[in-house]
Amino acid sequence: MGALADFFRALAGICQTRPLDQAFWRVEGDKIIVLLAAAGQLAQRGGAARLEGQGLPAPVLVLRGQDGGYRAFVNRCTHMGRRLDPAAGGASLRCCSLSHSTFDLEGERLAGPAKGGLTKLKVEHLRGELLVTLPPE
Ligand code: FES
Repeated sequence: MGALADFFRALAGICQTRPLDQAFWRVEGDKIIVLLAAAGQLAQRGGAARLEGQGLPAPVLVLRGQDGGYRAFVNRCTHMGRRLDPAAGGASLRCCSLSHSTFDLEGERLAGPAKGGLTKLKVEHLRGELLVTLPPE
């Protein structure tokens, strides 16, 4: 049943990563500010959260890697624009479509039909907050 459910989720392009409650992040100028103490999805290594809405020019995925570091990407696969999920326990990223393009934590394409790498965003960790710099419009 799990494999069948996974198949239909991928067919529908439904990712596993949940959106982060909008009360826990905000946009100020070209920065997204995430309150880490409230972002339980990022507490564990391999965790991830989707940031969408609040006037963002593009959806963003924030990932906590196995090394404990935070990374952020425009959350669009370069094949057909589907969202991404952490894979291999946070050591890579995987598109949620059936084609499952994969990317390393620098955003470089590893496998699959994606046309290129992901847009990686600058992340700073300051006093319990993550500051993610949005790409220029
Ligand atoms: S949209 Fe990602 S592999 Fe097709």
